[in-house]
Amino acid sequence: MKILGIETTCDETGIALLEFIKEKDLKFRIINHQLRSQIKVHSKYGGIVPILAAREHKKNLPILYEKLLKETNENPENFDYIAFSYGPGLPPALVSGKEFVFNLAKKLNKKIIPVNHLLAHIYSVLIPKNRLNIIQKIKNINLPAICLLISGGHTILIYTDDLKKFRKLGETKDDAVGESLDKAARILGLEYPGGPKLEKLAKKGRAIFNLPRPMIGRKDFNFSFAGLKTAFWELVEEVKKYNKFDEETKKDLAASYQKAAFETLIIKTKKAYEKYKPKSIIVTGGVIANNTLRKMLIKIFSKDKLIFPDKTLSTDNGINIAFTGYFFVDKAIEPEKLEIYPLLDI
Ligand code: KG4
Ligand code: ZN
Repeated sequence: MKILGIETTCDETGIALLEFIKEKDLKFRIINHQLRSQIKVHSKYGGIVPILAAREHKKNLPILYEKLLKETNENPENFDYIAFSYGPGLPPALVSGKEFVFNLAKKLNKKIIPVNHLLAHIYSVLIPKNRLNIIQKIKNINLPAICLLISGGHTILIYTDDLKKFRKLGETKDDAVGESLDKAARILGLEYPGGPKLEKLAKKGRAIFNLPRPMIGRKDFNFSFAGLKTAFWELVEEVKKYNKFDEETKKDLAASYQKAAFETLIIKTKKAYEKYKPKSIIVTGGVIANNTLRKMLIKIFSKDKLIFPDKTLSTDNGINIAFTGYFFVDKAIEPEKLEIYPLLDI
């Protein structure tokens, strides 16, 4: 079975073609995937401009689709389904994706699988490697699991017994951690996208500045990153006042911010781990592309309990969408049980 997957929830246009082979075990291969980032378009605005994201998706989707066909020599007649990420995401960007998918599905007379973007981040950890044309088995995960989903739009702690039903334990009450890293990077004068640039700068710095670890004293599993960002802004203003805002200090500031944000995530995850005693801890979403965070987590939890996606699948892409779409077709899981968020009516 071949599934085309399309991702347009934010600023990455992704298309992938996956093949699934169900024999004794479920196997799959990534036939091809295309990804176009919109960094250049948004960087001069310091963040994502939703309407420009929509325009870029609209422009890039047909280009990437043609590229995929050309590189694979695949006949679209042989596709079985078209999976697409219906949300949550930026509404104008979602509309561009949905329009492309609905037109293509009509033209090819194929069925559509709407995939929840957050679920795709969770299911991405079942993909062992992002390698083209290698037949792979689905990664086995010991359950129950808790899942820390950390992206540009979300920071959620989730509990699952079976990877079918998900219980939200807590979430951010304001900014997502990825968003806060992007904003901290901006305060330091780094270009969008801030997360990876902040990581690079922080690697050469020392976490010597004091910053809060928000909401760690509370019993619940909620987060808040808006106050941390404001505290960071005030700290940077103070540093500037004393004319100390040089390259070395910027590195230390970056390292201090990252440490505060990541320790907050880890403290909350540890609390959830101690309460629910899961067999696995899944950490997924764009922010887990960060190596410093991966290392910090490995120091606290044993390596065999931690489940990360392949680094290249941490951030948004079409592979995760096509892959997750399969589980709806297979009927291994019931779509309605998977909803962390309702289907957006767009
Ligand atoms: O999952 P994702 O691609 O999109 C959303 O669903 O939001 O996550 C994007 C977020 C951005 O905030 C970005 O700065 C962050 O993930 N990110 C990183 C790194 N790579 C991406 N944050 C920290 N370190 C990284 N290396
Ligand atoms: Zn995402």
